[in-house]
Amino acid sequence: MARTLATAAQRTLPMASISDTLAVINEVVLPTIAKGVIIRRPKVVATAQQLDLDRRAVQRVQQLREKYGSGPLLLRIPVRSQAILLAPEHVQRVLENSPEPFATASSEKRAALGHFQPEGVLVSHGPARAERRRFNEQVLETNRPVHHLAGRFLEVVDEEAAILLAAAEREGELNWPLFASAWFRVVRRIVLGDAARDDEELTDMLAALRADANWAFFKPKRSGLRRRFYQRLRQHLARAEEGSLASLVATTPSTALTAPEQQVPQWLFAFDPAGMTTFRTLALLASHPKHAERVREEIKAHKGSARQHMPFLRACVHESLRLWPTTPMILRQTTEETEWESGTMPAKTGIMIYAPFFHRDDKRLPFANRMAPELWLKERSTKDWPLVPFSAGPAVCAARHLVPLVTSAMLAALLDGHHIRLKPPLLLDAKRPLPGTLNNYGLRFGVSS
Ligand code: HEM
Repeated sequence: MARTLATAAQRTLPMASISDTLAVINEVVLPTIAKGVIIRRPKVVATAQQLDLDRRAVQRVQQLREKYGSGPLLLRIPVRSQAILLAPEHVQRVLENSPEPFATASSEKRAALGHFQPEGVLVSHGPARAERRRFNEQVLETNRPVHHLAGRFLEVVDEEAAILLAAAEREGELNWPLFASAWFRVVRRIVLGDAARDDEELTDMLAALRADANWAFFKPKRSGLRRRFYQRLRQHLARAEEGSLASLVATTPSTALTAPEQQVPQWLFAFDPAGMTTFRTLALLASHPKHAERVREEIKAHKGSARQHMPFLRACVHESLRLWPTTPMILRQTTEETEWESGTMPAKTGIMIYAPFFHRDDKRLPFANRMAPELWLKERSTKDWPLVPFSAGPAVCAARHLVPLVTSAMLAALLDGHHIRLKPPLLLDAKRPLPGTLNNYGLRFGVSS
């Protein structure tokens, strides 16, 4: 055993050829960046759907595995050491061993989120990270399937869903612009309280900062805009409105390391992909009658506070995130040299986990391209194949239960007593493989009672 490790330690990991490295950059990395990492660019998402770019990216990574084995595979990049993971057990290892030696605060993430939340937990390390993680977990109740403020959150969702349905009836359809404005009203109320309901300027300022963050190192920081955003955010937090996450920010203990207000922008902006996921789940249900029927039965059986936990609807939300993960690239950076079966990885190596490759690997997974909510009806463990829409391990999404809670409540409110059908141009077909990309911005639904 000692001998095997010693031999491995002397070898460097397999390295991709120049042409394979260029193929990964062109077909996997650039489309992900072009779609927008911190805020999506709707036109690019539409193009990605048209060209089926995500399916091509998965195929490219499958080819790498065929050629180079299980990796990790180093890419031939002159300026830095960069690896891509190809084996399920390596994904488990990296996520379980974050943030040491696999730090979440990779250089790219720090450059991107440095535009507006340099002290956010995701880009923190060491004692500061541990403290900020504790704070996030306490406020967002990471380990509780039902947040203790769920009762209030569901009232908010129901009120806004009713207004949204009435607007959709007036317009003759439910489309993204209508849905997104209702969704962000829900988000502002849940995070900051009812008085923030109509403060679109706050989320618009954050959207502008997120658009800068998409450019990471390549765009100067706008300190004036950031100052104005935080002034406004501070006013909302100061109210500590009962029933909102802001009330918990005010009462959760903090230390000199916590930077509480810098944790909040992530809560506001990360609810954006939760909205995209809600809309995509609606599309899945509109095109999968058997699953939709089971959802209808679940909604009928869950009235009032029982809606705080609807296992099948939550499974459908997870399944939408497996098919179309909103964090497609999970990034880590090694803090020291690490040993692998196939060789040594240098310290400060960037590691990419391209989630769609593991979620949609049709060479390994019989369910890769169909809707399979049953995958989520039992708790998944580290022994299972890595389906990691919320990441996993000690840096798992701090809202991994809060997101399914709020999104399933919105779906239940929209589907209760209403029939929702997909309208052209995009029609999904349960009998055909689901597309690699689903452009949420182009989805349109007909709604009838
Ligand atoms: C569809 C919705 C969401 C998905 C799929 C999602 C997924 C993820 C993923 C994959 C990570 C890990 C990123 C990484 O390791 O690089 C993450 C981190 C995080 N998420 Fe979410 N997220 C969502 C929404 C939210 C919301 C709404 C909140 C807060 C209200 C939130 C709070 C956080 C926090 C605080 C972290 C950082 C955890 C850490 O570094 O320790 N997320 N999320």
